[in-house]
Amino acid sequence: MHQRILIVDFGSQYTQLIARRVREHHVFSEVVPAHRAHQHLGQGLRGIILSGGPASAYADGAPDMDPAVLQAGVPVLGICYGMQWMCEHLGGAVVPGDSGEFGFTEIEVDHSDGLFNGVSAQTVVWMSHGDRVEKLPDGFARLARSSTCPEAAIGDPARNFYGLQFHPEVAHTREGVTLLRNFLHWVCECAGDWKAGDFAQELVRGVADQLGEEGELVLGLSGGVDSSVVGAICQQAVGRRCHAIFVDNGLLRAEERDLVESTFRGHFELDLTVVDAADRFLDRLAGVTDPETKRKIIGHEFIEVFREQAKHYSGARFLGQGTLYPDVIESVAAHGGATAVIKSHHNVGGLPDDLEMELVEPLRMLFKDEVRELGRELGLPEEMVARQPFPGPGLAVRCVGECSRERIRLLREADAIVRTEFELRGEHQGVWQYFAVLTGARSVGVMGDSRTYEEACAVRAVQSSDGMTADWVYPSRDCLQSISSRIINEVRGINRVVLDITSKPPGTIEWE
Ligand code: XMP
Repeated sequence: MHQRILIVDFGSQYTQLIARRVREHHVFSEVVPAHRAHQHLGQGLRGIILSGGPASAYADGAPDMDPAVLQAGVPVLGICYGMQWMCEHLGGAVVPGDSGEFGFTEIEVDHSDGLFNGVSAQTVVWMSHGDRVEKLPDGFARLARSSTCPEAAIGDPARNFYGLQFHPEVAHTREGVTLLRNFLHWVCECAGDWKAGDFAQELVRGVADQLGEEGELVLGLSGGVDSSVVGAICQQAVGRRCHAIFVDNGLLRAEERDLVESTFRGHFELDLTVVDAADRFLDRLAGVTDPETKRKIIGHEFIEVFREQAKHYSGARFLGQGTLYPDVIESVAAHGGATAVIKSHHNVGGLPDDLEMELVEPLRMLFKDEVRELGRELGLPEEMVARQPFPGPGLAVRCVGECSRERIRLLREADAIVRTEFELRGEHQGVWQYFAVLTGARSVGVMGDSRTYEEACAVRAVQSSDGMTADWVYPSRDCLQSISSRIINEVRGINRVVLDITSKPPGTIEWE
């Protein structure tokens, strides 16, 4: 039995980010919904982390947990809502703040030992809260403050209970890693001996168990890193009982289909079928402009294609997908928690209620960079592991408005130019994604002596480590210059190119 950390989910967008931070410290963790936390105490437990959440701790119906969890005899770290919940239940008080605190905030550290060991006396953290702790429970002392939040960090070292009003798990909190390391290794005394290889084998075993002796699986292979890693896991787990299906939905990037076929037929012993389904997807999308409707249609069509393909394999009761955690968290309330829905990702929000296949999603709780590590661990070629992410609904979520054949063609051509120009200069190195968006705006131009009234295309390039947060990237002037003149000269139907300079949050990476 591993030493383990229990992560209690109160509905935060960042719960799984906490889990991955714990994994980064080579400690095993388990995420559970708040109302079931009390069932997960006992063997191997070294500490508990309470996540944030969108509710107010004092509100009726706010996510709750059996307070007995606090008597498990292990250290507890409450983050944001988690800290406020702890205060409410230990005799403190939480009140609405005069004004919320969102974004970067500087805090001053009052106690530089213990949890804050090695953290600067003044440091920048990421806040996202409306309420604040007004009265500390008995035994607690302030550990850090900000100008608007006196209780930015609190602690009761005798019981090893700590609370942070900010989010140490997000990269914007400069010394968040140090704080979590202190909690895990110093407060909880975790040894940190849990490895990536153990993890890969756990996932392989999980799939083998799920499929049993005879189960067969149909795997949606997109050619991206996620489904490729799922392919590698499933192959190790069940060998030729895994049937990979690549769907050409008419929303692929230039040359994608050829690349996927040659890569997979070259590298894998996978049973691969390519389905030409462009017409059926594009026909269903004709006239549709609402982003969520587009996503649902695409998700639905994917499932129909997989169902049809599954009929070719008598035992195929399972559907494999490369769903990652950011897809889940932005589509549904994970673990029955209270997270707000941001977008329905095609492989999550679009699933029908009557799906007669059981889902196999071994990456459902992981982040992209972890999946890349796992891919390397499983022996996938670097060119596949390092590919930029491409969303399941493909170019549709970058084509604002109708996805007509003509508009998808414009976008595909513009996107190929953006990618080529980045890669030619090596400016794609270290960049998470770089692509073109058809914005749906039209504008007046002049070409030769004639007036034009055509589409505007945006260049979107972002830096990110997991897709949950992202910063926009500023390509070199030379790169932008080539992109702009090539698109305007070579792609008939686009007469304007703009640069998207929006971070996530408040934007999302894709436009829809
Ligand atoms: P957003 O636009 O939500 O994107 O900030 C975060 C990351 O997820 C990718 N993405 C998707 N991936 N199915 C996927 O497999 C989807 O429906 C989907 N939507 C967005 C996006 O490319 C980015 O890397």
